[in-house]
Amino acid sequence: MTIIEELRANRDLPDEKLTALLETEEWDSVLFAEADEVRRERYGDAVYIRGLIEFTNYCKNNCYYCGIRAGNQNVRRYRLTKEEILSCCAEGYALGFRTFVLQGGEDPYFTDDRICEIVSAIRAQYPACAITLSIGEKERESYQRYFDAGANRYLLRHETADEAHYRRLHPESMRLQHRKDCLFALKEIGYQVGSGFMVGSPYQTTANLISDLRFLQQLSPDMIGIGPYLTHAETPFAHFENGSFPLTLRLVAVLRLMFPYALIPATTALGTIHPQGRELGLKAGANVVMPNLSPVSVRKLYALYENKICTGDESAQCRSCLEQRVRQAGYRIVTAVGDVKRNGV
Ligand code: 5AD
Ligand code: FES
Repeated sequence: MTIIEELRANRDLPDEKLTALLETEEWDSVLFAEADEVRRERYGDAVYIRGLIEFTNYCKNNCYYCGIRAGNQNVRRYRLTKEEILSCCAEGYALGFRTFVLQGGEDPYFTDDRICEIVSAIRAQYPACAITLSIGEKERESYQRYFDAGANRYLLRHETADEAHYRRLHPESMRLQHRKDCLFALKEIGYQVGSGFMVGSPYQTTANLISDLRFLQQLSPDMIGIGPYLTHAETPFAHFENGSFPLTLRLVAVLRLMFPYALIPATTALGTIHPQGRELGLKAGANVVMPNLSPVSVRKLYALYENKICTGDESAQCRSCLEQRVRQAGYRIVTAVGDVKRNGV
């Protein structure tokens, strides 16, 4: 049995074999083909779309890698009003979106009351849509309140599962254990949970990546989002290079074989590092794309990293642009809510 067959059959490999697989390009074409097969077995050629609404770029945190960190004085900060968020949803709904992802920095202005008010309003207008929040680390009680208001999915990347590596990416005030606790609390409350990590973030080793995969095995998230680390000049990591595109694709494929059921996005960061990044991501096992529904006027301001795609005038057309790209890659956008298929083949 080849290493790829073993990974596919067991949905796992011992650490030494995973290390070897991640550190060589030798298996890539076989790996991507197997990942695509597994994805087609479970999800066919369906690509689910999620409408991303980046509603605030204020953030109280100071993660060393992130362009909207509190310490960056050179970014114009913005917040969308509830009405603006609702009109993003309305536009998205008309375009066929049935999942809205509200993403933002950890912005104290958006108290639990305000978040619940927004979530309730969306829920009232779109009873059959999925509402996803991606607003960082909160207390369990807050997560429960958002859930009761109608949110049903939550995205929170763990970023790195290794304590020492976590310390090199985050200031002292942040705790890996708290982030992990948040993820387990979200699951217990009943959210469909998404997690993930950056590939090629500063100081990351192959052993760190394996810790990430092991942590995901523990968490068993519904969605797993990964993308290459991309540099941003206004951060302490300005001098670090971008993560590797081939390694990110390799990890997408490994994730598909380890978590056949998972919803795996071909992320914006993947589309930013390579002109065909998202298409190649789909061919390596990804099955979700998350086009931007934020008002074009603020898109450039939500810059976690540089050169982010879909922020210019052309981006009003993301839905049709993506439609074509996805079709050319050999898949098909579906407008269903797109729940995870845990008990498929
Ligand atoms: N490069 C790539 N991804 C980044 N993120 C934050 N900063 C960067 C960067 N410089 C990712 C983090 C976060 C997600 C919203 O974006 O993983 O969870
Ligand atoms: Fe956004 Fe093509 S998907 S412009």
